[in-house]
Amino acid sequence: EHPQLLVGKTITITAGPTREPLDPVRFISNHSSGKMGYALAEAALLLGAKVNLISGPVTIKAPTGANLINIESAEQLLTESLAYAPQSDAFIGCAAVADYRAANIATQKMKKQGDELTLTLTKNPDVIAAVANFKQNRPYTVGFAAETQNVENYAKGKLKNKNLDMICANDVSKSGLGFNSDHNALTLYWHNEQLELPPTSKTEIARKVIEQLAKHL
Ligand code: C5P
Repeated sequence: EHPQLLVGKTITITAGPTREPLDPVRFISNHSSGKMGYALAEAALLLGAKVNLISGPVTIKAPTGANLINIESAEQLLTESLAYAPQSDAFIGCAAVADYRAANIATQKMKKQGDELTLTLTKNPDVIAAVANFKQNRPYTVGFAAETQNVENYAKGKLKNKNLDMICANDVSKSGLGFNSDHNALTLYWHNEQLELPPTSKTEIARKVIEQLAKHL
């Protein structure tokens, strides 16, 4: 019943949060559930694609048939993305990558100190920008932009600055949509067109995103 629009195509998807270690027992992370990335993987599999799912730690199960690659840190995400992206027709960056990591990771558990503790953080690599800037074997590159204001401006800025082909923007200030929710609404932007996807389940919206992606491959 699903048209096999993606047979012979390989799609690599990043999903979930990253974990940036501080010491052997602590890390910095975020609330990404991985639901959107996993729903995209399932939708791509339904249309016959081969799917690599590079995922941070999540509690949900990977769809049957996906090649699951588990990572923790942004640097590990970069390494795996650089390995899989060149063999992919499309790369979808859905992971909530931590913008910063600890400048120094303590080798022993950090001890309690005075009333204040200062952490020095250093910028993480921008994984999707690295892929989008490949000079050869560059996959069709799709990003996500979760914003709480000026959604259109910020999304279009990221589309351009990161050299993406398509970006899926969502307004995470709307309660019940986006982060950690089972529902989402997105606006898709390309360099010279856009498409509004009204609120629905992440399963449904993922199918629409993948259908649009298939048209552009
Ligand atoms: O700049 P911002 O983090 O909002 O961009 C979001 C998009 O960039 C998402 O597609 C996300 O997966 C990707 N990203 C990335 N590496 C980073 C930060 C974001 O791939 N270090």
